[in-house]
Amino acid sequence: MNKGLMITAALMLAAGSYYFAAADDDYGERYDRYMPRHAAAREMQPDTPEKALYKKECGSCHMAYQAELLPKRSWEKMMTTLADHFGTDATLDPADEATIGTYLADNAADVRPGERHLAKIAASLSPDAPMQMTKSYYFVKEHRSIPARLITQPEVKSLANCNACHQNADAGDYGERGIRIPNYGRWDD
Ligand code: HEC
Ligand code: HEC
Repeated sequence: MNKGLMITAALMLAAGSYYFAAADDDYGERYDRYMPRHAAAREMQPDTPEKALYKKECGSCHMAYQAELLPKRSWEKMMTTLADHFGTDATLDPADEATIGTYLADNAADVRPGERHLAKIAASLSPDAPMQMTKSYYFVKEHRSIPARLITQPEVKSLANCNACHQNADAGDYGERGIRIPNYGRWDD
């Protein structure tokens, strides 16, 4: 093999092992250990007026989901269909709707990528439910082994109430160490 070919082969091998390291779940576990720190750092930054408005107006019936959980097109669709929002009327003052719509679009998963788990939810939405992260392929896979009675119980009601089980959901941290299911406790799988 000539020198040029050998270098090319070595580079390809290095790229290959990097790919496998990143695809390996173990890599994700190691990354998880750093998550609370990142989440805390994010929380320490004061909310912009736009984010504060979003949390106030869109966090009254359920938690204010991180903008990074859905792509821009999903948020745009949602903001134009608030009159029939999952069976409720969630319309707001037009000026507030515009501010919140811009905030969500500017921070959407495909505009300002968020933490790895959030990105996976946004990237695996069901074409039949483009506004629901709870119907995304990755979300369904992660939550399918939870018994139905733990979801329908009054303390949780639905999988859309992330913060009923994920203690640090408001800070965007869905790591397994922060899970406490009401009337069940920690989740060991
Ligand atoms: C009047 C109450 C109410 C308000 C206000 C409200 N929502 Fe909702 N929202 C709901 C209900 C009810 C559901 C369905 C929850 C369920 O499936 O258990 C929902 C579901 C959602 C979902 C889908 C969750 C999932 O993955 O299943 C998103 C995203 C969402 N809302 C975003 C918003 C945004 C953005 C705003 C502010 C513009 C907002 N909501 C304001 C009642 C509300
Ligand atoms: C009924 C309690 C419950 C609710 C409600 C719930 N989750 Fe979870 N979630 C879990 C459990 C339990 C796991 C771990 C599943 C496993 O590993 O088998 C999990 C796992 C996850 C993971 C993967 C975490 C990791 O480290 O692999 C993400 C991301 C996540 N949930 C996001 C959400 C979001 C976003 C919502 C709301 C839209 C939500 N969850 C609602 C219980 C819940």
